[in-house]
Amino acid sequence: MLASVAEYRIAARRRLPRLAFDYLDGGAEDGDALRRNSDAYRQWLFKPRVLTDVSRCSSTTQFFEREAAAPLIVGPTGLNGLFWPRADELLAQAASRASLPFVLSTASTSLLEDVRAAAPQGDLWMQLYVQQDRGIAEDLMRRASAAGYSTLVLTVDVPVHGKRDHDTRNGFRLPLRLSPKLLADCLTHPHWCWQMARTGSPQLKNIAKSVGEHADLSRHSAMLSRQMDLTLGWRDLEWVRRHWSGKVIVKGIMGIEDALLAAAHGADGMVISNHGGRQLGSTFAPLELLPGIVAAVRGKTEIFIDGGVRRGSDALKAVALGARGVLLGRAPLYGLASRGAAGASEVLALIMEEMLISLRLLGCQGISDLGPAYVGRDGSRDAAPG
Ligand code: GLV
Repeated sequence: MLASVAEYRIAARRRLPRLAFDYLDGGAEDGDALRRNSDAYRQWLFKPRVLTDVSRCSSTTQFFEREAAAPLIVGPTGLNGLFWPRADELLAQAASRASLPFVLSTASTSLLEDVRAAAPQGDLWMQLYVQQDRGIAEDLMRRASAAGYSTLVLTVDVPVHGKRDHDTRNGFRLPLRLSPKLLADCLTHPHWCWQMARTGSPQLKNIAKSVGEHADLSRHSAMLSRQMDLTLGWRDLEWVRRHWSGKVIVKGIMGIEDALLAAAHGADGMVISNHGGRQLGSTFAPLELLPGIVAAVRGKTEIFIDGGVRRGSDALKAVALGARGVLLGRAPLYGLASRGAAGASEVLALIMEEMLISLRLLGCQGISDLGPAYVGRDGSRDAAPG
């Protein structure tokens, strides 16, 4: 086990060829939003209490009445098969073993039914992109419901794909084509290359199945990136409700007005998210928006957050500021990309261990003890000790 998520990131960079690592790690345009996401966590400092009994400290919490081992969720990330064969199954298993929910992306490279079979006891959530052909999303919802997925995560910040310079520079497209550049990369990353040669280029299997055609990767990648339903609006939450009887979370909220609209339209939850800095190149960090949104929403719906969490203590800051849970995107992928199933489990264990250490050092018995009194913004009067 390595010592930190940062070390898993370095290990992932070593194992993956450039085009795959950049796809995992990179952000849109100049990476301003990406950097700001993690920097925001450095702006908040802890204000611990001491001499409290922390002998029975626990990080357990609940998401929609279901117990989880920590306020963490393995978030939806697309094209995971680019990092390891059967990546979605392995991530779901790692999350299930850690008693955390796993969110499967519409752009998964495994069938949602296979992911369920791999993690029969897991709390599985389904992320949904809505394409122009609404029948695809309707079929995905039907299949996910039949496979016992509990919660739908409707991603609303991808009407089009963000501009990612690294993907252009690397000539990244699916299916992977053996260009001279990729061949050179393969020679220096033989383990990855051997795996890909054995299992073939990852495929957007879920979409292909719901389209009801033979998996034709180039067509379905194009569908995902260029055929989103640009007419999607708040009223479509009613359409979602007609096809999904479980909980509905809207992911990609970046301001108070939209947070209030999500609550008014009956969302069970929202994720404050800038898509890991992969869509708009320059935005505020979700953490910067969290306190204002929590104050405005006043408990009407659950608030989740993602973007930039690399430590258990980062996640605790978000929880102290009012988040019900934190979605982890890149962090478990660094583990998966460096060491497969073991790496994904190690990263989750590491973050949960860091959480428990910090909780005890904060003088908290559990997650419900945490609140805004335990943090202060660097440079503001309330952060000053004494
Ligand atoms: C997919 O959602 C991506 O950000 O690449």
